[in-house]
Amino acid sequence: LYREVFVSLFFFKSYNLFFLGLATQLICYFTNWSQYRPNSGKFLPENVDPQLCTHLIYAFAIVNSANQLDKYEWNDETLYKSFNDLKTRNPDLKTLLAVGGWNFGTTQFSIMVSSAANRQTFIQSAITALRKYGFDGLDLDWEYPGSRGSPPEDKQRFTLLCKELLEAFEAEKRGSGFPRLMLSAAVAAGKNTIDTGYEIPEISKYLDFINIMTYDYHGSWESITGHNSPLYQGSKDTGDNIYFNTNFSMSYWRDQGAPVEKLRMGFATYGRTFRLSSANTGVGAPASGAASAGTYTREAGFWSYYEVCTFLQGATVQWISDQKVPYATKDGEWVGFDSKMSYEAKVQYLKDNNFGGAFVWSLDLDDFTGQFCGQGSYPLIYHLHNLLNTTLPALPASTTTTKPQVPTKTQTSAPKVSSKTTTSAAGFCTGKPDGLYANPSDKRSFYQCFVGITYIQPCPSNLEFSEGCMCCDWPSP
Ligand SMILES: *[C@@H]1O[C@H](CO)[C@@H](O)[C@H](O)[C@H]1NC(C)=O
Ligand SMILES: *[C@@H]1O[C@H](CO)[C@@H](O)[C@H](O)[C@H]1NC(C)=O
Repeated sequence: LYREVFVSLFFFKSYNLFFLGLATQLICYFTNWSQYRPNSGKFLPENVDPQLCTHLIYAFAIVNSANQLDKYEWNDETLYKSFNDLKTRNPDLKTLLAVGGWNFGTTQFSIMVSSAANRQTFIQSAITALRKYGFDGLDLDWEYPGSRGSPPEDKQRFTLLCKELLEAFEAEKRGSGFPRLMLSAAVAAGKNTIDTGYEIPEISKYLDFINIMTYDYHGSWESITGHNSPLYQGSKDTGDNIYFNTNFSMSYWRDQGAPVEKLRMGFATYGRTFRLSSANTGVGAPASGAASAGTYTREAGFWSYYEVCTFLQGATVQWISDQKVPYATKDGEWVGFDSKMSYEAKVQYLKDNNFGGAFVWSLDLDDFTGQFCGQGSYPLIYHLHNLLNTTLPALPASTTTTKPQVPTKTQTSAPKVSSKTTTSAAGFCTGKPDGLYANPSDKRSFYQCFVGITYIQPCPSNLEFSEGCMCCDWPSP
């Protein structure tokens, strides 16, 4: 029976490749600090595949003390040029310059929006810079109006900034004869930050698209494990935690008055890590800080997808069924990350809700060289690109999918696994040949080993794993 599920699902998936659906926007962020990563982690505009995304956004420029849009890195002008030169290899590609970011904070934004004169200074400097370097638009990444030191009145002032930027872009278009500069914003996903930061119906009128940062929901700043970017609420979420998932944030922006076609859902190409402080390895397990920093990203609590791939060797991967995302554990370390399979669930959700597209944070965190995950270059973003241009069939309700998703060259899926975990699973597959194995502690599940990675697979309900057929079967009487 297990094999039947496998065959029908495989057929379903191949079938769906023949449907080319609507072209949806795929917006990808480039970061100007990934150039400083060592060896294979070093990332430059030359590493961007110009066919992968419909829009590229360069992060980050700043607002300087004269209220002007300004560069930040010593070599930004050189990088701006090679970044915008990517358009010669894809004439449909659009580029935007993002201003702000988490580390830039709020102070200079608050000063800039505080008077009409300061706003005009910023707006005119932005138009000059965008045209000078050949960008097609501006992305506002103020994190966040009304939070992190920004006063409450910045909520209304942010609206004014958006309104006046759009008016100035319209006027510049009439004067220059060029297509109008685009205006977008990256915005908060958390309920409180949204409530204090944005007049949603008003800013939605002025922005061409809105990138909702549907990640960083959980991380090593908390004392229990939780996923970076869950699609849905977890069964154990209580209190404000019920808001910390992609579905809540996307629905909330929509229900507060943003048109779905302007909303872009965030896809992370990284995971967030924890160090476990007990034998419990599940979601909500006690944790004390971050796992070891990544070799390339060198930031505690944060691993690029290519660093996750390295960690998966000898690790145990679990699928959080209710949240539709995986996590992996090994040697007391825990990472919640995104995979091809979680991207599939998220694109299905995006399409079911008619959201206008996806954005990725970020290009440099995917396995852009292809040397770490064994799935070719840009495995996650490439998969996302294909999924967005493909009409997905409805997933059969509550069946197991098969085949591990890391690392493999074909378009398959990671296993769907219950969030219960036993510590005895850790390293089960280390040194074992690929294949299926009975789980001695639970007949309703079995182990699947793939290149040393342990996947715990549940049998469909009422079935048990049988070593006779090496499949899930009706329990013997
Ligand atoms: C989808 O396909 C269309 C037409 O082939 C293409 O123009 C568009 O860029 C693709 N979309 C994405 C997200 O790659
Ligand atoms: C998604 O969010 C909506 C709106 O908050 C809610 O009604 C729905 O139950 C959520 N879906 C899931 C599967 O949690």
